[in-house]
Amino acid sequence: MRTHYCGEIERSLEGQEIEVCGWVHRRRDHGGVIFVDLRDREGVVQVVFDPDRPEMFETAEHIRSEWVLRVKGRVRARPEGTENPQMHTGEIELLALELEVLNRAETPPIHLDDKDLSEELRLRYRYIDLRRPVMQQRIRLRAQVTRVLRRYLDDNGFLDIETPMLTKATPEGARDYLVPSRTHAGRFFALPQSPQLFKQLLMMSGMDRYYQIVRCFRDEDLRADRQPEFTQLDIETSFMSDEELITRMEEMIRRLFREVLEVELPNPFPRMSWDEAMRRFGSDRPDLRVPLELVDVGDLMSGVDFKVFAGPANDPKGRVAALRVPGGNRLTRKEIDEYTKFVGIYGARGLAYIKVNDASAGREGLQSPILKFLPDEAVTGILERSGAESGDLIFFGADKASIVNEALGALRVRLGQDLDLMEGEWRPLWVVDFPMFEWDDDKQRWNALHHPFTAPKPEHVPLLASDPGACQSIAYDMVLNGTELGGGSTRIHQEAVQEQVFELLGIGEQEARDKFGFLLDALKYGCPPHGGIAFGLDRLVMLMAGAHSIRDVMAFPKTQTAACLLTDAPSEVSPEQLRELHIRVRAPRKEGEAAE
Ligand code: AMO
Ligand code: AMP
Repeated sequence: MRTHYCGEIERSLEGQEIEVCGWVHRRRDHGGVIFVDLRDREGVVQVVFDPDRPEMFETAEHIRSEWVLRVKGRVRARPEGTENPQMHTGEIELLALELEVLNRAETPPIHLDDKDLSEELRLRYRYIDLRRPVMQQRIRLRAQVTRVLRRYLDDNGFLDIETPMLTKATPEGARDYLVPSRTHAGRFFALPQSPQLFKQLLMMSGMDRYYQIVRCFRDEDLRADRQPEFTQLDIETSFMSDEELITRMEEMIRRLFREVLEVELPNPFPRMSWDEAMRRFGSDRPDLRVPLELVDVGDLMSGVDFKVFAGPANDPKGRVAALRVPGGNRLTRKEIDEYTKFVGIYGARGLAYIKVNDASAGREGLQSPILKFLPDEAVTGILERSGAESGDLIFFGADKASIVNEALGALRVRLGQDLDLMEGEWRPLWVVDFPMFEWDDDKQRWNALHHPFTAPKPEHVPLLASDPGACQSIAYDMVLNGTELGGGSTRIHQEAVQEQVFELLGIGEQEARDKFGFLLDALKYGCPPHGGIAFGLDRLVMLMAGAHSIRDVMAFPKTQTAACLLTDAPSEVSPEQLRELHIRVRAPRKEGEAAE
């Protein structure tokens, strides 16, 4: 239907007759001449309708935004002084010779140039939202990313293999989406939280190197970088050391950034132990662009007359940490209150601070509501350890270590943004040496920090029996600018170790058989050493696109409450369908009536 894309028309085509198709981006009447900006996937071209073709001109007068047109025209240079350097096609225009209206459009609910569209409208009319050039670029970037990743993996002997969507639960830590079975009354499939077990089975099948760009489903609390349905680049290998896998994955990501963004990432990526990340940044996915660090001051506080600090300082699970903010002295009372509220989200009960007016003047140079509680040695110690200088401010967190880490870890990033402290554009790293387990105080048992199929370091296997908390796994997370891009590990390939880990996690023998019997069996029949990783593709594209939410790089995402506004899913189904699925139909609950 066309000879060219609108956005491709260049000066070199001057004088030629061409045909284009697209949407009306804008129409302007200029005293007898009508200009239409016609838009397609590649961009926009200005079409001119002259009154000396009265029939066509009359049609053009009725054209509205988002109508779909086909235009035959002659490319000509724009008159001197009317060029538009903002537009790729800004030097030329298309003088219309023939016009065909392919379709009309009602006034669209979304104006494509509107700068602050509500997300609700955007999601409800996603097909129009996706017409916006910025969304077109993001979706195309995504396609480019998967193309480069696939090419790398194809070139390196990885096989693209599909795994089932209707399957059994895989424990990645979230709630499952369940699908009732019609043919097996009272039974359910689970949608995969990841293909974890299938990819391990593929290694046992001798596939050696597997990858898949695959949808995963997790019913969990949603955030800007979490969707109920998201995409992983999922990878598994046999007979490959964790070192080699890490090196290759780095190479893949470096190639991706080079080819798509012309960015050269560091070689190698720095590595940091989980312990160090938590200690210095309060986070297992530290944003290294922020040049602020936590320092421990618990030992200085154990004897002070301030319970808020002395309590956690003397509690083995507590932490008292300081965060120096260079130049932070200028923060106002109101801003500090704002930050205090912010850390409250993470459970912090306050945010003590010291303003350093003059670092050389001892106590006199400081200003703080808690100064009166702190003896001289503590004050000197804090200044020394934090490296505080005149003009700085020091924040404090004192609580259970997990709360202090989360609160000050998040505050650190927020301050980095608010105070414009970010250094460098791309700061990848590997976080390694993860603990195998973390203690769950509520349930009074161990949880797997990764998943239950992650192998302990060989030298730590004895600790499974003696001191599980000290046991580290062979797991690695790739982190970029404060986002966990991917996580992987060497897997357990001996049945006995797998059983021992299940037991530690409180998964009894019977439950292990019921849930993972097929895996335990497979481990008996010749399982190679294997390991792998999965990247969050949506997150990767979000960062590369400079978007703030993964919703902006997914064609049809869901809302924060896991609904699709476009199709209105989830929706009610007929009693007939429910009966077929052996789901008992009850009258809907009345307001105020308690749930059973
Ligand atoms: P994990 O659970 O760490 O590992 O997931 C891998 C990566 O997937 C991304 N991700 C998400 N992205 C968007 N929305 C979500 N709800 C979401 N959840 C996770 C993250 C994360 O790093 N089977 C293991 C991998 C392995 O061991 O090979 C797994 O799924 O970027
Ligand atoms: P208060 O004695 O409660 O007035 O607290 C004195 C100062 O300590 C205030 O600036 C509080 O914000 C701060 N504070 C209170 N609890 C904590 C805590 N758990 N961690 C850090 N600072 C705190």
